[in-house]
Amino acid sequence: MTDFKTRAAGSLDAARRRTRALTDCLDDAELLAQHSPLMSPLVWDLAHVGNVEEVHLVRRLGHRPAIRPDLDEVYDAFEHPRAERPALPLLSPTEARDYIDTVRAQAFDVLDSLEGDAEERRTVLFLAQHEHQHGETMLATHQLREGEAVLTAPRPQASAPPGPPVEVLVEHGAFMMGAATDEWALDNERPAHVVDIPAFWIDTSPVTAAEYGRFIDDGGYEDQRWWTAEGRKHRTEARLEAPLFWRKEGGLWARRRFGRTEPVPGDQPVMHVSWYEADAYARWAGRRLPTEAEWEKAARWDRSAGLTRRNPWGEEDADTDHAGLGRHLEPAPSGSFPAGESPCGARQMIGDVWEWTSSDFDGYPGFRPYPGPDYSEVFFDGRYKVLRGGSFGTHPDNARATFRNWDFPVRRQIFAGFRTARDAG
Ligand code: AVJ
Ligand code: FE
Repeated sequence: MTDFKTRAAGSLDAARRRTRALTDCLDDAELLAQHSPLMSPLVWDLAHVGNVEEVHLVRRLGHRPAIRPDLDEVYDAFEHPRAERPALPLLSPTEARDYIDTVRAQAFDVLDSLEGDAEERRTVLFLAQHEHQHGETMLATHQLREGEAVLTAPRPQASAPPGPPVEVLVEHGAFMMGAATDEWALDNERPAHVVDIPAFWIDTSPVTAAEYGRFIDDGGYEDQRWWTAEGRKHRTEARLEAPLFWRKEGGLWARRRFGRTEPVPGDQPVMHVSWYEADAYARWAGRRLPTEAEWEKAARWDRSAGLTRRNPWGEEDADTDHAGLGRHLEPAPSGSFPAGESPCGARQMIGDVWEWTSSDFDGYPGFRPYPGPDYSEVFFDGRYKVLRGGSFGTHPDNARATFRNWDFPVRRQIFAGFRTARDAG
């Protein structure tokens, strides 16, 4: 139990350092501003992570009296969609920091006093991952904000390992999908279940910006053949012509990244594309997006051992050789991280960019909501597509081959790219 408490407290601490780093670098006006209707003001995220921690750890597990019961309603994500949040009676940045400090001090007292049963452990790990997720959401808000750059990080090493084959075959057969015993697994990763999948080919690395550029140059956005009816409608209405944040400058593609403009690096995975664009690109390339189950099988099925791994490289958590997670402000070149390769030979399944899959977000057979219906279940309505693998903006504690993310197919502000697949035989 001591080990668990140390590990959990370390994750909560890391999440909080990031929450503070992403908010302490901006003045109050910027924290209160809504940088995009898609996102909350950062001061909302700041107090929201504290409120969720108060509700589940201080009150529910700790049986302590409420600190600020009046805040539950204000910071309930379902009561108020993001666009409405600036109009709420939000705590000021100073009040929000005081509030989350108060909650955190009590939360750590409660954590100390826990027996450590499965329910308690699950709640604590959920809370750490919840704040880490908001860390990535806040990073996406930073990417959308206008104005002077405030974030810096070393650029990823442009490692140029011998290029892996372009695609690999994943043979027909059943594998165990989802998390069987992993206590970090959130509700939507459970229960583990057997899925039988026909043979397919999958890209060994994410589609690059240069490859995507060829689709643009080939008139891919205008060519009706590559788009579904819905995609065509959206492309026209939203006037899509290139990934979000891209702009043509002197005949070359430039991108805006966290307040700076730079040439688009052709060897990096393309990102800030919607599901519709990813789907159209795949059709142009004579391919398709992988299903969620195909993606997971390519990431973790060890055919020679007959076992499903926790991560592409094995059971261990990601280290810096395996994946680009939470250290940089952009993805590493496609084909990087040979040490993170999955048993079938696919790289960067974890980290760098989230990957769109063709699948709708839904519960696995026998799904049970935790800690309530509002984490996953309310999104099982056919309007969301699944993304897998995590991005450079994802903390390692939220990255594993079973982790599931989801968003509307029109969304482009997330750090999402894709890889393609095709049927075999
Ligand atoms: C898993 C990223 C889709 O931000 O909507 C945060 C995570 N859920 N607080 C979201 C989440 C509740 C969720 N995503
Ligand atoms: Fe939340």
